[in-house]
Amino acid sequence: MCSAARTFMASFSVCVRGLFPVVWLALQCKQRTTHVYGPGILDGRHFRYNERKGKLWNETRMMLNFAGSAGGDVWGLTVVNPNFRLFDKVVSGSRMTMFRGMGWAANNGGGHFEFNTSARDSFIRSTDDLIKVRGGNIVTENLVLWQSYNGGTFQFGWAGLHLVNITHRTASVIENEWRAPEVWETYDTRPNNAVVSLVDTNPADPAQLAGPFVWQDLQIDGDVSHPLSLHLENGFLGNMLFDGLTISGKVTRFAFATAVEGSATIANVTFRNFTIEGKLISHLDDPAFRFHHAG
Ligand SMILES: *[C@@H]1O[C@H](CO)[C@@H](O)[C@H](O)[C@H]1NC(C)=O
Ligand SMILES: *[C@@H]1O[C@H](CO)[C@@H](O)[C@H](O)[C@H]1NC(C)=O
Ligand SMILES: *[C@@H]1O[C@H](CO)[C@@H](O)[C@H](O)[C@H]1NC(C)=O
Ligand SMILES: *[C@@H]1O[C@H](CO)[C@@H](O)[C@H](O)[C@H]1NC(C)=O
Ligand SMILES: *[C@@H]1O[C@H](CO)[C@@H](O)[C@H](O)[C@H]1NC(C)=O
Repeated sequence: MCSAARTFMASFSVCVRGLFPVVWLALQCKQRTTHVYGPGILDGRHFRYNERKGKLWNETRMMLNFAGSAGGDVWGLTVVNPNFRLFDKVVSGSRMTMFRGMGWAANNGGGHFEFNTSARDSFIRSTDDLIKVRGGNIVTENLVLWQSYNGGTFQFGWAGLHLVNITHRTASVIENEWRAPEVWETYDTRPNNAVVSLVDTNPADPAQLAGPFVWQDLQIDGDVSHPLSLHLENGFLGNMLFDGLTISGKVTRFAFATAVEGSATIANVTFRNFTIEGKLISHLDDPAFRFHHAG
């Protein structure tokens, strides 16, 4: 069944095809598994941005919203100029393929990927956390990512830091627009601004980030202020593998920070076939690596 509707409440399989920019368009899928197929465009350009948190639109209302549903596959859809995130929670069992998301305004990020979800063959330009994980058995493959001035491209952090088994294969980060903090605790930008980011905001709930967390063939174009910024206050993060990490430009800093007073451990992080500016990095103290550990 195909439909092009304004706020769309669906309880059956749906395909959206050939939509052209439409005012106030959103897809909200409830209860049953709902698939969205086709090269349609969801365009929120006429959204009144300052009402995002007001009565008409708020943070639970997004362009593509699976919250409260059994999820479903998204294949081929484009979301542009969203009011808030480019897509909401990617509910367990859901798969995104050939998705394109283009957000320019603040918080035009991605939703949380839950247990057993994937994103493949997609392009996303985001102004907030882009691939944000909240579970295990998550796979991404063939992503082209453009990170604007805010957010982590691969975000581990913020809440519910109990994660296992996440694989990212073949990702190109073609842009990252934020700039580096000069000193770990004195930011000229926010602490989540890194290609791979962890912000532990709830140290009362010790992290159990057991992995394995694998990045295979991650390419970052140009200079990058923070390829990794992992700041753990309490708990464990380990078993990360970067297999084929290629950074074409310069790096400001790779940063790991663990709490001085808490008990935080970051262990078993492996870099294999790792180049910066075409030079193979083989030691922590290689000057091009700019590795920093605090705490
Ligand atoms: C936000 O939207 C949801 C879903 O439509 C609604 O239930 C809630 O009351 C709204 N909240 C505010 C503060 O407007
Ligand atoms: C994962 O999701 C797929 C649908 O994408 C489903 O067929 C499969 O049963 C799920 N696996 C688990 C372990 O939940
Ligand atoms: C890890 O996740 C992948 C993708 O969902 C799955 O195929 C694999 O069985 C999982 N491995 C373990 C050990 O659970
Ligand atoms: C280190 O992490 C890798 C995954 O990156 C895992 O395969 C390996 O078993 C881990 N080693 C130890 C000693 O835990
Ligand atoms: C190293 O990584 C590059 C880029 O991903 C890849 O083309 C090359 O085959 C890798 N080399 C080895 C020895 O794995």
